[in-house]
Parts: sequence; C-alpha cells; structure tokens
Amino acid sequence: MNISIIGTGDVGKVLAAGFKAASHDVMIGTRDPASGKLADWLAGAGKGVRAGTFSQAAAHGEVIVFAIGWAHAKEAIDLAGPANFKGKAVLDTSNPLGFEQQGQPPVLVLGHTDSAGEQVQRWLPEARVVKWFNIVGNQHMVNPDFGGEKPDMFICGNDAAAKGTADELARELGWPPVVDLGDISKARYLEPMAMVWITHLINSGFNGNHAFKLLRK
Ligand SMILES: NC(=O)c1ccc[n+]([C@@H]2O[C@H](COP(=O)([O-])OP(=O)(O)OC[C@H]3O[C@@H](n4cnc5c(N)ncnc54)[C@H](OP(=O)(O)O)[C@@H]3O)[C@@H](O)[C@H]2O)c1
Repeated sequence: MNISIIGTGDVGKVLAAGFKAASHDVMIGTRDPASGKLADWLAGAGKGVRAGTFSQAAAHGEVIVFAIGWAHAKEAIDLAGPANFKGKAVLDTSNPLGFEQQGQPPVLVLGHTDSAGEQVQRWLPEARVVKWFNIVGNQHMVNPDFGGEKPDMFICGNDAAAKGTADELARELGWPPVVDLGDISKARYLEPMAMVWITHLINSGFNGNHAFKLLRK
C-alpha cells in the first residue's frame, strides 16, 4: 500500500521505518526535502523510504499518517494541501500540547468540548480521520513488547472502513486488535490519556518504557 507520513519528528520516522519494514511504499513529508535534514536517517533506519514535500507525500498515500506537533499542525495541513487528503484514511497521532511555560510540563490546549482529532477532521472535512497511536511513546510504536505482553491501542473516528484500515495497519506494526471507542469526539478522552502517559514519563525519569493495557475478564 502507498502510505504517506506527514512529519519528520520521532513519530514520523519510527512509523515510516515500521511501515517500510512491513513492505509498504512509504513517502515521508518535510517542508524542504533538499535541506539534507533527513539524509542520515534515509541512509540508515529510513532506508527505502522516499522523502518529498508535505504536498508530494500527501498525494502519494492511500493512507496518510499525520504526525506534526500541534503548534504547526494547521500550517502543515495547508502546505500538504487539503485536496490531497480527500477520501483517504488519515491516522492522526497528534496531541494538542501547549508548552506555555519554559521548563514546565506541557498542557492540553483543547479539551472537554473539543479535541485535536475533531479539529483535524474539521480542517479536512473530506478525509476520514482516525485518532491513532497518540497514547504511546514513539519508542514503542513498532513491535511493542513488554516482557512478552503487548499493550492495547485505543482509536476513534467517524468512518468504519478507515478504522478497519487503522486496525489492520496497527496489527502489521505488531499490535493486538485495536479498541474502538467510537466517533472522533472520543478523541476528547484519548488526548487526556496521552497526558497520563506524559505525566508518568516525567515522574519516572523519562525512560518511556510504559504503555496502556486494557484488562478484561
Ligand atoms: N513523540 C512521541 O513519542 C509522541 C507519541 C505520541 C504522540 N505524539 C504526537 O505526535 C505528533 C508528532 O510528534 P513528533 O514529536 O514526532 O513531531 P514534532 O517534532 O512535534 O513535529 C515534527 C514536524 O513538524 C514540522 N514543522 C515544524 N515547524 C513547522 C512549521 N512552522 N510549519 C509546518 N510544519 C512544521 C516539521 O517539519 P520539517 O520536516 O520540515 O522539519 C516536522 O515534520 C505530535 O502531535 C505529538 O504530540 C508524539
């Protein structure tokens, strides 16, 4: 499958390499592909991934992963061109984090009555947005393994087929079947859950070796 990754931060790079390893045709988008910023990564962990502009990458994919820090999310979507998202499943990893005070933990800048997932869906009304992979650190996004146990991934979105694709791709990255919370407004609950993950990250000395598991009986 052709997969686009919009974003060259840790999340974009880890997922691009993971999807490449799963034999997908992956293009990663960056503002200036000629800058050389990705050269080392493309020669190493990202071998086989192609780099393009946000707009070239968005046009490439049948599925688009959106992995941009919230402060620049709208700018990146505008550069990628909303028309390139039309009808596509968009897997939104973003958390609406604000870094308001230097040296202090981030805060959510949206919540209760809105979420980043809903905002991305409003920016891209013709896309099928699924909130996906926002509640785990990038180091455990591909083939998560906690002493033989796998964590769970919760998702939400308005389109059943797009959520099916999100589930299929999560499984290819080594996850169990995803837990579907419902429509995209459930991102209002998933994004605060990321703050639980981040708060524990800070409290436990920044090793990031934790993830959520839903126990059932
Ligand atoms: N880090 C994690 O482990 C983790 C885990 C779960 C969810 N998340 C969420 O996933 C998202 C991605 O996180 P990340 O840390 O991987 O990425 P990031 O470093 O926050 O974002 C990287 C991207 O932002 C783009 N960018 C920077 N300034 C821009 C501007 N002025 N206009 C347009 N684009 C601009 C960069 O473009 P260039 O390529 O051109 O430099 C780059 O592609 C965030 O919403 C984060 O909250 C992160």
